[in-house]
Amino acid sequence: MKFAFVIHPTSLEDVVRYEPGAVGKGRPLIEKIMEWMPAYAAVHVTGVRTPDGRETEGWFVAATYMPEQMLGLPRERVYKKILDSIAIGADLGAEIVGLGAFTGVVGDAGITIAERSPIPVTTGNSLTIAAGVRSLLRGAHEMDVDLPNATAVVIGATGSIGSACVELIAPHVAHVVLVARNLTRLRKFQESIADRLPCSTSIETDVGAAVRRGQLILTATTSTQELIDPADLQIGAVVCELSLPHDVGARVATERPDVLVTEGGNMRVPGTPRFERVREPGRDFDTGLAPGTALACMSETMVLALENRREHYTLGRGIDLGKVREIESLAANAGFELADMRAFDRPITPERIAAIKAAAWERRAAAV
Ligand SMILES: NC(=O)c1ccc[n+]([C@@H]2O[C@H](COP(=O)([O-])OP(=O)(O)OC[C@H]3O[C@@H](n4cnc5c(N)ncnc54)[C@H](OP(=O)(O)O)[C@@H]3O)[C@@H](O)[C@H]2O)c1
Repeated sequence: MKFAFVIHPTSLEDVVRYEPGAVGKGRPLIEKIMEWMPAYAAVHVTGVRTPDGRETEGWFVAATYMPEQMLGLPRERVYKKILDSIAIGADLGAEIVGLGAFTGVVGDAGITIAERSPIPVTTGNSLTIAAGVRSLLRGAHEMDVDLPNATAVVIGATGSIGSACVELIAPHVAHVVLVARNLTRLRKFQESIADRLPCSTSIETDVGAAVRRGQLILTATTSTQELIDPADLQIGAVVCELSLPHDVGARVATERPDVLVTEGGNMRVPGTPRFERVREPGRDFDTGLAPGTALACMSETMVLALENRREHYTLGRGIDLGKVREIESLAANAGFELADMRAFDRPITPERIAAIKAAAWERRAAAV
């Protein structure tokens, strides 16, 4: 079974990566062009092959809006471009479609799109949640964080991804700080989960105040701005970023050599995956990720195609943890693995981890 995945540029760098002619055009002109540009099939994905010989192929179809346009333009106009993208995928033979980045955030997180789509839909958030929590815990292990006594901070805690991450992180730590801007929603969410969480929680709308409290930070927000001030991070902290566009700035890496930042939602795809530009056959599309890897939300869509699951899967903001566990296990059986650690377009090698740990020890020693 074939798949489609709706993509959109999450930054000006993304636009230029696909269309070098856009260099120097400036954001207002690029946004204007995108407003009127129709959706189009951008990438043909081939070579996805499981260890037991199952294969799938698919297309990334571009719904050409920037993140701010996805959130700011009239909802129906945005839905139309996403549905146009899905129709292109369905015409190419896709029988399931994933909603990338803000195409899965806009409005009710996929529910309305699914009602109007000719093929089943998933946001891909279930595998993103599983991969994100695993990445955070892997980072904690690498940095020797004392997990049972640690405080984790989830920024975007009331969101589709963040709320499920809170539940999955809670059994590992002593305390979770829930962060978002809307205090009423934070209070409601905290009340709704307090009884079933094995650790204590607190709520916070001030990102800086929250970050100062945690050894583990996970971001899953729809912010289009950098959220973390490097000076707020504890020595030796671990930051796992799921947000796209990025909400953790490169300043964290340059100003805080003692902090481990990792992009949490990337998976290694089984087989010999190839991402080829539709308009220029033979030329690869730069996904901005390590070779052979894909975002976890793309991977969820591929796994459902490999499993011939012609059904809506992850939709809306209330995530079913049963589905998170199911897709994690289906992905593992299909040969998908957590990608190696990476951030700011660079791999995080064992040597880099050793250097980060050494910098943390040095700072700790200097602080006493
Ligand atoms: N890596 C991957 O494979 C992958 C896959 C899917 C999605 N994503 C990304 O994950 C992110 C979250 O997606 P989602 O579906 O969970 O979105 P969502 O349901 O809309 O949740 C967003 C959360 O972020 C909070 N938030 C937004 N702006 C904030 C700010 N400036 N400061 C603090 N909190 C803020 C929101 O609460 P308030 O509005 O109250 O602040 C909410 O809790 C998005 O960036 C999406 O593109 C990544």
